[in-house]
Amino acid sequence: MRVRLPKIDYANVRPHWAPNWEFAHSVNASSTIPAFVEPYLIKVMKLAKEVLPPAEEELHRDIDIFIAQEAQHFRQHNGFNRRIRESYPDIAPHETKLGEDYEVLLRERSLKFNLAYCEGFESLGPPAAMMWFEKYDDFLVGADPEAIALWKWHMGEEFEHRTVCYRLFHALYARSLWGRFWNGWLYRVYGFIYAVRHLGTYSKMVRKVLVDTDRRSMDEAALAQSRTNAQTFAEHLKRHTLPQLVKVLSPFYDPGTKPEPRGLSEYLRRFEKGGDMGIPSVG
Ligand SMILES: [Fe+2]
Ligand SMILES: [Fe+2]
Repeated sequence: MRVRLPKIDYANVRPHWAPNWEFAHSVNASSTIPAFVEPYLIKVMKLAKEVLPPAEEELHRDIDIFIAQEAQHFRQHNGFNRRIRESYPDIAPHETKLGEDYEVLLRERSLKFNLAYCEGFESLGPPAAMMWFEKYDDFLVGADPEAIALWKWHMGEEFEHRTVCYRLFHALYARSLWGRFWNGWLYRVYGFIYAVRHLGTYSKMVRKVLVDTDRRSMDEAALAQSRTNAQTFAEHLKRHTLPQLVKVLSPFYDPGTKPEPRGLSEYLRRFEKGGDMGIPSVG
């Protein structure tokens, strides 16, 4: 695990950065999430570090790298998201509401709940990394390289740090046999379902704003194409991610056992020293 600083210029990124606009908008909606969830993740991890015994040295170190990686992720997405918001200002109220939701969770819910939510969010990382490295190729033909680089770098690091939140949650709440059953399985699954429903509802609303804005100026033929595009992507996503998400519900779920998506390590090396997409002083 290491922190990498991508060298990506978002100045010319287009909201329609992939030929299937509905795919692009689905990803654009997802891109607005890290800007809010990742600062929240960092706050939760910092709070958890305060109660994690100092003897857990390796975990403390990994959490520090996790925090440093997430801090870069949301900064990069902010650069990308500015381009989206310029063309689609109607997404702003939804984004504001998402930010407020996290303030409420931090203020009103326990550390255990917040950490379970964070782990729920983190368990979306490996399936998303698998999609970006192995299943999106057809959608990425002719797409803008800046958007691809942002997502592959981000999902690569999500895969890389996939065990940190899981290990932290277990270290704090699932040490005993009862803890492993109640917190390590049931409460973790509760956090996962909560996060998936919360973020699923949010991204659906944002995607609708993006797609509906486009559709307002479409003729009948373009509208029909737009519906086909949306359906093609929705079916592809469901077919490949649903089986992965179901695995998170298992009492034996362990992100550490996930196989690495094809080409992930090699891709991340491009953002390290000597690579063509990283800032050389880092990595
Ligand atoms: Fe991230
Ligand atoms: Fe993460």
